[in-house]
Amino acid sequence: MTAPLPPKPDPRPDRVSLWRYFRLFRADILSAQPARLYRAWMAEFRTPFFRSFLCNDPALVARVLKERPMDFPKSDRVREGLAPLLRDSVFLTNGETWLRQRRIIDPAFEGGRLRDTFPAMWEAGQACVTRLSTKISPEPIEIEAETSHAAADVIFRTLFSIPIEDATASAVFHEFRTHQNASPVVNLGALLPLPRWFPRFHSRATKRTAARIRALIERLTAARAAEIAAGTAPDDLATKIMTTPDPVTGACFGTSEMVDQVAIFFLAGHETSASALAWSLYLLAQNPDWQDRIASEAETVIGEEIPSFSILNRLKLSRAVFREAMRLYPPVPMFVREARCPETFRERPVPKGAQVVISPWHLHRHERIWHNPDGFDPARWDSENGKEAQRCAYIPFSTGPRVCPGAGFAMAEGPLLLSLLTRAFRFETVAGAVPVPVAHLTVRGKDGIRLRLSPREGALPPRA
Ligand code: HEM
Repeated sequence: MTAPLPPKPDPRPDRVSLWRYFRLFRADILSAQPARLYRAWMAEFRTPFFRSFLCNDPALVARVLKERPMDFPKSDRVREGLAPLLRDSVFLTNGETWLRQRRIIDPAFEGGRLRDTFPAMWEAGQACVTRLSTKISPEPIEIEAETSHAAADVIFRTLFSIPIEDATASAVFHEFRTHQNASPVVNLGALLPLPRWFPRFHSRATKRTAARIRALIERLTAARAAEIAAGTAPDDLATKIMTTPDPVTGACFGTSEMVDQVAIFFLAGHETSASALAWSLYLLAQNPDWQDRIASEAETVIGEEIPSFSILNRLKLSRAVFREAMRLYPPVPMFVREARCPETFRERPVPKGAQVVISPWHLHRHERIWHNPDGFDPARWDSENGKEAQRCAYIPFSTGPRVCPGAGFAMAEGPLLLSLLTRAFRFETVAGAVPVPVAHLTVRGKDGIRLRLSPREGALPPRA
């Protein structure tokens, strides 16, 4: 029996009024787009308030992200939606400030340091297996909530050496949920290119939850600063980032700037991984043959070796599945830049200030680039077409100098957790519960992703 195609949102009709477009856009940016964007190299949207250019041409994507990124900075409009929480975080800054912040942050995520985070990732994976073992029942479970919990646990353990059960960690996790519900602009991925004169009210609830989250994070960073001063700090990502001076100016992050960075690590680092992991599990549930192959790979690799960073190299199938899940459901489906000066894109003039939209969602399913663009095929990465498309049209972590600093971290965490979960459980789809992908802060199932969970026969208990 052939597996059904992975779910894809219905596109909107080709022509709609501006008003209808705004309404669709507010509801969900994925289904607000016409089907032609899966075939077009570029699309221009003209409204009375802004001009926007969606770029699918790999040469244009490379120009914007890799060749001249300083001429296409992040738009201030993105900043406005996220500012109450993220202030001067590296995700929002531009120019000199951004360069300085990356000089301090990047070393914490480099190869050697990544290796050091492995034990914390492993423990978070084991904790997730134990938690899910208590939830086995004939009733389906909502898997996104579980992967969110697990990914938040990974972040707290690797950043601050505390598990999600820690009182402050768990308070931050729950406040983030409340914040997202209170903050529709954040839920839209802050992509709505509203006109500049449009007033952007942050509800009192948004400001309140943002302030509470920042106060909690401040408590964590202040405690860590004291431990660093006393020489008792654990050797984790927070210590590394707080003690790394900028090689150019010699200055470390100040307290408030460190709070900004922790807020974005938490937000960017847990929502994204949670989304990729949840879709990976759904795709495996749709494709039981692949699920069995991942389980057997995990059994061989994890069963044989003392858990260490080197097992990740051997989780090849798991990595291919995780990569394929992020092709079909890129956690960050679109991002926006602004043209700093007049440009020409595919012989069309692009005015200064125009929005430049890069859409992994469309690029990853582009009909003129990928064979079988909407199908689930983790073996594609070994094919000629898969290799070529990966090189020019696969950007789940963006690319160029502004590439996600957590990419290596996520590519360690994702396949590891996927393998541990698949080794312990069997995941099955639920009749009539096909998740519709929508873009919240990341790509999620409209009503969550429900799966049925049962123990995998012969699975070993979690290993310490
Ligand atoms: C599957 C997991 C992940 C995906 C798909 C992902 C994707 C992305 C993408 C597409 C961007 C660029 C957004 C833009 O330019 O507007 C980004 C930026 C960023 N990500 Fe990730 N990310 C993931 C995990 C992580 C993790 C684990 C961390 C940290 C612990 C992290 C931290 C960041 C930060 C700090 C930025 C801002 C970088 C900058 O603007 O210079 N991400 N991520």
